[in-house]
Amino acid sequence: MSRNEQNSPFKSSQVQNDVTKPIQPIRAVKGTRDLLPSETSVWQQVEEEARRVLATYNFCEIRTPVLEPTELFARSVGGDTDIVTKEMYTFQDRGEESLTLRPEATASVVRAYIEHSLYNEGGVQKLYYLGPMFRRERPQKGRYRQFYQIGAEVLGSESPAVDVEVLEMLFAYLGRLGIQDFHLLLNSVGCAKCRPEYVKVLRRALEAVKGQMCADCQRRTGTNPLRVFDCKVEADQPIINTKLPWIFDHLGPECRVHFDAVTAGLNERGIRADFTPRLVRGLDYYTRTTFEITSGALGAQNSVLGGGRYDGLSEILGGPPTPGFGFAIGEDRLVLAVQQSLLSQGAGGQVAPPDGQPVEVYIIWMGHDALKAATELARSLRTQGRRVELPYDLTKLKKAMGIANKLNARFAVIIGDQELANARYQVKDMSTGQQEEVEPDRIAGYLRDRLAPGEGEGVGSLSR
Ligand code: HAM
Repeated sequence: MSRNEQNSPFKSSQVQNDVTKPIQPIRAVKGTRDLLPSETSVWQQVEEEARRVLATYNFCEIRTPVLEPTELFARSVGGDTDIVTKEMYTFQDRGEESLTLRPEATASVVRAYIEHSLYNEGGVQKLYYLGPMFRRERPQKGRYRQFYQIGAEVLGSESPAVDVEVLEMLFAYLGRLGIQDFHLLLNSVGCAKCRPEYVKVLRRALEAVKGQMCADCQRRTGTNPLRVFDCKVEADQPIINTKLPWIFDHLGPECRVHFDAVTAGLNERGIRADFTPRLVRGLDYYTRTTFEITSGALGAQNSVLGGGRYDGLSEILGGPPTPGFGFAIGEDRLVLAVQQSLLSQGAGGQVAPPDGQPVEVYIIWMGHDALKAATELARSLRTQGRRVELPYDLTKLKKAMGIANKLNARFAVIIGDQELANARYQVKDMSTGQQEEVEPDRIAGYLRDRLAPGEGEGVGSLSR
């Protein structure tokens, strides 16, 4: 066995099929899923709308790797959290470094901020990201092992105005997506100054009741008492809800002023928040504001998004003191909520079904020379932003028309020997059945007069 093979968890015998057994199809990994074209148009619209709204608040995109050193999450999310102790996909990279598939992206964004000295660029950095995250949770509707987040982080200001503006942006975004039934839950978890005193009080209270609690809560009483609030064991809930002190009652004066400013700012904007003293969120880096938005359109996994302030995180990761505030939306859940809210409005459950973006031109070609001409026409129309379908194989006219109909094509262009000889192609309006002969050079203009402008038309077309 070569050295490479010794280090590899993959054995060559794993690919040798036993010829006596039928070949089993390979399925997606548990908790992951394929998003098929019938769904992806909703995802695209949710993402496009997010980019649009984020841009109006002057956020810029950042893309960080999916793989990070394990230590990044152990240090920031916290060694006692469910995410780090139970849910991370961590592996030794061929015996070298311990790597983890990112379970969230705030830590990555702050790492990148420090690594590239973005703090030298002056002012506040407003960054957003979209992409897959990985947590080994028990899969169910709205909870996956590979899920997607749309998140944003504001680095460099501790002003409560940041918290308020970001929440305002989230309300604007959810409103634009047509989601109505959502609630903002809000709390403050204090800061490095006031929290140690509270933790002492909490630990004392826990010592009195921990004997009746689960093993995790017993351990956390000693290591990180705040994490007891993340416990999901049914039997522990009455104790957590009635026997433990809330951090909110132990906030220092500065944290209290900050919280009051946030709630006043939200009131001014007519944004209603439900004060939720138990909301400490399952990550260690939070300070002061924590929040979640839940949606009645979802089932048990009803938290569409969550976030908060993390003023000490940069220092924990070896960077300069930099206050931060951000959120992450669970895109899988957001899409469910959008579909749900549209269903309740009788809109069929999708922002725009795949046939909401019909093929504009279906080009039918008959023969080798016609294919050449059809390819040229397709390229030129696509350059102008038209959605064009060009069949790869020679197809009989009747069958090709059937396909054009199925695709809801607005126009069909037919090119055969006759059309080439006459230098005029047949252009058929599929909704009226009306057919005209049009010279190749005039087809683009002919379509322009009858269709909305193509996506690539107007300013900024990449193809020019
Ligand atoms: P989080 O609350 O862990 O926060 O995740 C944010 C959102 O991601 C959740 O509200 C939920 O919608 C979605 N989510 C989490 N786990 C899953 C899952 N297994 N399947 C489907 N959706 C899921 C964070 O990740 C923080 N980084 C947010 C943040 C940004 N805080 C400050 N800045």
